[in-house]
Amino acid sequence: MSGEITGRTKLLGLIADPLAQARSPVLANASLARRGRASEHVLLPLQVAADDLEPVVAGLRRIATFAGAIVSMPHKETIVPLLDELSPEARLIGAVNVFRRDADGRLTGTTLDGEGFVAGLRAAGHDVAGKRILLCGAGGAGAAIAYALVKHGCASLAIENRTRLRAEMLAARLHDACPHGDVTIGFRPGDAYDVAVNATPLGMRDGDALPMTDAMLDAAALVADCVVTREITPLLDAARGRGRAVHGGLPMLEAQIELLLDFMGVAPGPALTGA
Ligand SMILES: NC(=O)c1ccc[n+]([C@@H]2O[C@H](COP(=O)([O-])OP(=O)(O)OC[C@H]3O[C@@H](n4cnc5c(N)ncnc54)[C@H](OP(=O)(O)O)[C@@H]3O)[C@@H](O)[C@H]2O)c1
Repeated sequence: MSGEITGRTKLLGLIADPLAQARSPVLANASLARRGRASEHVLLPLQVAADDLEPVVAGLRRIATFAGAIVSMPHKETIVPLLDELSPEARLIGAVNVFRRDADGRLTGTTLDGEGFVAGLRAAGHDVAGKRILLCGAGGAGAAIAYALVKHGCASLAIENRTRLRAEMLAARLHDACPHGDVTIGFRPGDAYDVAVNATPLGMRDGDALPMTDAMLDAAALVADCVVTREITPLLDAARGRGRAVHGGLPMLEAQIELLLDFMGVAPGPALTGA
């Protein structure tokens, strides 16, 4: 799957702890191979404990062949002050899930969870522009998804979250960033939604409660889940049982891998460049 590693091969990383269950290295290196870029870049797992993040980032900054890294738990927020520049979405959310190293050693971070979610939906034939959306969860993924939905022109966004204050704070930040967005707090019985999205971790573990009530499921035409631990989560199973269309978490991850590689400077494949 990997190409020939030479003195010109650029290093990409996945920085996280733990890493054993991580899917990004396999997906990213497969994408590099599909793009015909597997000898130009290779992505390796970099297991970094929370206390070691600062010296590791300082060291990566000084490696000329290091091009960037995907960032996962527990570093998504603590890495922010170690970077030189942030995208508007990373500033709004206060977290990044990727950064790139420019030739002068400057490090720029962004979060692509939201763009990945929108791209995954689009790949399945669902555009978000003009859609009424219910979002359950206002954590890192939820906030990034909320920003991307408003940015891509959803008609309305209702944010439902266990901790209401967190949803209210997210809505306020969204309003500052995108004053045109129609963002409200909480599910309102009687409202209809084109898409209902689960951006909580509920469904990752056996025995988890469902993140949506029956009334929420009945109010949505399409139910989407961010959870990737299984293709059909208990939420999607319940949604199907109530006659809803469903969309799993894997398309979000797969779409995001392409966006992450683009952001770290990997060139598209020959089919895309026409070369
Ligand atoms: N498919 C993909 O590519 C992709 C990408 C990123 C994330 N994800 C998945 O998205 C999910 C959320 O990740 P995250 O990084 O956003 O996590 P996070 O930052 O920890 O946020 C978790 C959110 O879920 C809520 N929540 C947590 N436990 C809950 C419970 N027992 N009942 C009700 N609400 C609960 C939290 O509410 P409070 O505010 O009340 O704490 C918060 O809004 C995870 O399953 C993750 O694997 C998937």
